Amino acid sequence: MAEEFTVTPWEVKGRVDYEKLVKIFGTEFIGEELFKKIEALAGELHVLLRRRVFFSHRDLDLVLEDYEGGRGFFLYTGRGPSGPMHIGHIIPFILTRWLQEKFRANVYIMITDDEKYFDEPGMSLSEVKKWAYENTLDIIAVGFDPDRTFIFHDIEYIGKLYPMAVKVAKRINFNTARAVFGFTGSTNIGLIFYPALQVVPTFFEKKRCLIPAAIDQDPYWRIQRDIAESMGYYKTAALHSKFMPPLTGLEGKMSSSKPETAIFLHDDPKTVRYKIMKYAFSGGQPTIELHRKLGGNPEIDISFQWLHIYFEPDDVKLKKIEEEYRGGKMLTGELKEYLVEKLNNFLEEHRSRREQARELIKIIMYNGELARKMWKEGPWSPEDLE
Ligand code: TYM
Repeated sequence: MAEEFTVTPWEVKGRVDYEKLVKIFGTEFIGEELFKKIEALAGELHVLLRRRVFFSHRDLDLVLEDYEGGRGFFLYTGRGPSGPMHIGHIIPFILTRWLQEKFRANVYIMITDDEKYFDEPGMSLSEVKKWAYENTLDIIAVGFDPDRTFIFHDIEYIGKLYPMAVKVAKRINFNTARAVFGFTGSTNIGLIFYPALQVVPTFFEKKRCLIPAAIDQDPYWRIQRDIAESMGYYKTAALHSKFMPPLTGLEGKMSSSKPETAIFLHDDPKTVRYKIMKYAFSGGQPTIELHRKLGGNPEIDISFQWLHIYFEPDDVKLKKIEEEYRGGKMLTGELKEYLVEKLNNFLEEHRSRREQARELIKIIMYNGELARKMWKEGPWSPEDLE
């Protein structure tokens, strides 16, 4: 039967049924026990885990066992620099930073300027490189540990990636790539090779790799898991998040190519207020009288959903808002004002950390402890390339 929604690394359409998606992708829900175990090991549960924004996984149980057994693990995530980043794109980086701190793990961040050059018809190489730099500043602003983080841009770092990319590419045939990614006869061959490259950082250390990302990236991890053990590595583990829904309602995902659906990290306070007031889909009633009588529906109200996902981390305050909105005491306009303030505080802090990132970028990309090693020695020993 045809699905009424689509999730691929390049497109999310329709209202995603996450129960179904977990079945289709063959991943697992994160159960209560696993959440408890993270909490026990980390000393707390990050709001993105508490609110079940990260909801699905592959082999997270094994990652935690490795950690408990002293073998450790490393973290990998990334960004395709097709333009400015929105508040959905930053979500996986926020959790990755927290995991780095709590589990003292190395973090590798891949900036896929090549992928976006292949994928965006109108994009020039210099434009994509400019966005790679700008996006890197936003990512650094999340607050990664300079000595345990390595951020690289594919086009610049390709020499160190390529020896492993050829080993990966040789093991994936076109039928598999076409079935997993939906390539057609008119897909350019850059994009057809690209999946081999996105797999490579999962082999940067001879430990288990854990990838926090939205669930749209899972097809890459599926092919990695098909070939990893035959190459002498662990199958990668993954932690999947739901999508930050677009401003306009629960269908699809927030998308840079549709500015009315997104709040960008660079949006100024006036723009944020304007967009929320104009576009944020409301679960309220058409008139104040009706709203007071019948109350609003937080399940479909985007302002409430965004507060729930991340922007009101205080559980007690969120509960109060939910009750007041549902009971008709809080109006849509009031709920929107509340979100606007939360968003603007978040964005203001982000922008000030982004200014500091202009200096930090030199350390995290080239001079931190991990970055120096990666540039000088590269990730591979000669045996890795046998
Ligand atoms: P990109 O740039 O499309 O997305 C960057 C990260 O943001 C996630 N994401 C979202 N999360 C929540 N809500 C949304 N609306 C939303 N939209 C996107 C993505 O899942 C991703 O984690 N090919 C990748 C770049 C990449 C990568 C990786 C990503 C290379 N290696 C390893 C994750 C992990 C890309 O174009 O991401």
